[in-house]
Amino acid sequence: MTSATMHLLILTIALFIFSSNTSIAEQRFPTLWFEAPSSIAGYPLSGNCSSSQTINNSDCRIIDPWLYLDRLGLYKILINATTPYMDRFCSVQPLQECNILFGLAANFGWQFDSNRLFSNGTKNISVNSWWASFNYYLSVIPFLAAVDTGVIRSGAFQIVQRDIFCSNSDECLKQIPSAMIHWRNYFLNLLQSRSCSGVTAKDGGLIDECYLGPMWLAHNASVANALPIIKTKLSLLPSYNEQHFSLAWSNVLYYIAIARKNSNLIETNIYQDKYLPGRMLTDKDNPPYCPDLSKSVNLALELLHDIPLEFYSEFMDYWYGASTCYESGIYAQIALEIAPLSRTLAAAYYEIAQLTVLVC
Ligand SMILES: *[C@@H]1O[C@H](CO)[C@@H](O)[C@H](O)[C@H]1NC(C)=O
Ligand SMILES: *[C@@H]1O[C@H](CO)[C@@H](O)[C@H](O)[C@H]1NC(C)=O
Ligand SMILES: *[C@@H]1O[C@H](CO)[C@@H](O)[C@H](O)[C@H]1NC(C)=O
Ligand SMILES: *[C@@H]1O[C@H](CO)[C@@H](O)[C@H](O)[C@H]1NC(C)=O
Ligand SMILES: *[C@@H]1O[C@H](CO)[C@@H](O)[C@H](O)[C@H]1NC(C)=O
Ligand SMILES: *[C@@H]1O[C@H](CO)[C@@H](O)[C@H](O)[C@H]1NC(C)=O
Repeated sequence: MTSATMHLLILTIALFIFSSNTSIAEQRFPTLWFEAPSSIAGYPLSGNCSSSQTINNSDCRIIDPWLYLDRLGLYKILINATTPYMDRFCSVQPLQECNILFGLAANFGWQFDSNRLFSNGTKNISVNSWWASFNYYLSVIPFLAAVDTGVIRSGAFQIVQRDIFCSNSDECLKQIPSAMIHWRNYFLNLLQSRSCSGVTAKDGGLIDECYLGPMWLAHNASVANALPIIKTKLSLLPSYNEQHFSLAWSNVLYYIAIARKNSNLIETNIYQDKYLPGRMLTDKDNPPYCPDLSKSVNLALELLHDIPLEFYSEFMDYWYGASTCYESGIYAQIALEIAPLSRTLAAAYYEIAQLTVLVC
């Protein structure tokens, strides 16, 4: 073993210790989590569900995904309903924190906190917000798919329709078929996969294969389907820097999806705190020299700024190759996580991932 390899091994171990040393701060829930509805019955009665998912009109609830609490409630219900299928590999309390869908809720919370939903101090979400539009396909869509597959057994409800957004299963199957199908598959897989029933926290490979792989496949389909639909909202973002950041981030999401990072609450909070800016960018921002942002956020923004957008699609197949199996995926994830801090080390980890594929 060369000393360079040794150095990388030590660093890997250090990173694992760092990321398993979680604090209360990292266990925090998205803003206003405890105020959001936790069941369909927590939403207001509408009295008139013309295009309700289910038939019983006398008890029909109205869900407005353009209200922060209503959309957050969709995540709450989804997480509550799916945690029993995922709690076997959880070694912390509450068990919900291990739910790999929690990352979606945590990211939505970051969008709210940073005013990316254009809520401007209210709890209303603007249909003009690119981020809110993007998140629609990562909140309403998985929710509808979970209802379709019976993972969520709800009463009758109707989703308020606004702008270009599909608001029931039939419409969404027409608007974004592959995202709907992949999310349904993910939930069916959750219900049916007996081979995964004995998975514990130690079975990283099985967690990857049974849970993370199918979830990120559906996530990828949502991102790919959403981007062309919401394109017109990009110019409504308040600066060129923010526009570039939005597109770069949606590309980084493809890379995270391919490497299949664990997206539970704790890991997502750590990643977001480290790398995502807590406010929208302005055209005066010149990373890594934004005095009100942390050093690591500055470095992440600098990296995203330096990478031309074409790079992501050009390099995608190589990245896919390097992330083929669970073991190589871990190195790919480390490469991603370390890239803002050291591009050289990230390249080294990418090479280790490639070498690992040879012995998958
Ligand atoms: C219920 O909604 C339908 C369609 O939006 C509308 O035509 C009908 O008048 C409504 N009925 C009541 C009682 O509000
Ligand atoms: C419809 O909902 C009402 C109120 O919850 C309930 O009493 C009734 O039994 C339901 N009807 C059917 C057909 O499920
Ligand atoms: C889901 O909600 C039910 C009822 O609100 C509650 O009893 C249960 O503990 C929740 N499940 C989880 C995993 O939090
Ligand atoms: C809310 O904030 C967004 C982003 O800063 C801005 O573009 C928009 O004009 C604001 N809307 C209102 C009603 O203040
Ligand atoms: C938020 O949206 C609701 C429902 O559409 C509306 O009644 C309310 O006036 C809005 N509040 C603000 C502050 O815009
Ligand atoms: C992600 O989605 C795009 C568009 O549907 C597809 O071309 C690509 O192969 C998908 N990537 C993965 C890893 O599934």
